[in-house]
Amino acid sequence: MLMKKLITPYCKDFGKPNIVIKHFPDSESYIFIPKIETLKNKHVVIYHRLYPDPDKRIFELLALLSRVKKETRNIELLIPYLPYARQDRENKKGEAVSADVLCNLLKSFWVKKLITYDCHFLPKPGNFTRSGLIIENRSAGKQLFSYAKKYFGKESFVVISPDEGSSYFIENAQGQKGHSLKKVRHESKATDQNTSIHAEIHTMEGEVDVAGRNVCILDDIISTGGTIVRAIEHLKARGAKKIIVGTTHGVFAGENIAQKILNNSCSKLFITNAIIGNDTTGKIEILTLVS
Ligand code: R5P
Repeated sequence: MLMKKLITPYCKDFGKPNIVIKHFPDSESYIFIPKIETLKNKHVVIYHRLYPDPDKRIFELLALLSRVKKETRNIELLIPYLPYARQDRENKKGEAVSADVLCNLLKSFWVKKLITYDCHFLPKPGNFTRSGLIIENRSAGKQLFSYAKKYFGKESFVVISPDEGSSYFIENAQGQKGHSLKKVRHESKATDQNTSIHAEIHTMEGEVDVAGRNVCILDDIISTGGTIVRAIEHLKARGAKKIIVGTTHGVFAGENIAQKILNNSCSKLFITNAIIGNDTTGKIEILTLVS
């Protein structure tokens, strides 16, 4: 069956956008699919980014799907970074599991398969199902590792993940078991005034022999940068030589996060284009995702 690509304006680096997304004066979204009749019973792949502005972009995607599903039930999504993936369990009774909410929504809008990269709630690359939604999880691990190899050239280096959750990431990248550290978190002190929810990383644990050696830290996501900064401090304190940092998803949630990492003994920061437009330093190397 012929495949049709639908590309939203947030994915113009994947091809010429053929979906119209505009905004009314009050910022509400307007979606238009030109030549919708050409999608009749076709296999449709929608390229869309859900970050930044995840809430808005999720709504835009649902609006788009609401119309496409009237033409075909053979719909795949390519969403390089899946937001709402980190609240993937009910840690405290009463918490909503946003990862399930999003997967459920996509499933109920007839998405046959979601293709994404280094999805936070999945343990490794491959095919999975969550809340009825089929997910193909791809990994940028190998690509990031190749970049590190090129960067260090003839010099050797150690690859380290800052936590056990992303350790699959370095195994996948190296083809052998890598080294992981362990995070020690501070309980977040919730007050009535403080509506943000974030548990600070206090320190890192884990002994890896890095004295006099180059290090490449790889993680699936950098959000506040707390994890990476603590990991760098931990490794520097153990005598690491040059440290470079790579991640699939450069979320950089907060002011000057990337710059803070670069100021913290990080010789090179490299990310993929899973999220774009987030480099305020002009110094980040951006790798193009390959499937
Ligand atoms: C955690 O499990 C992830 O692999 C990342 O280490 C984490 O999400 C990074 O968050 P932050 O940059 O806020 O420390």
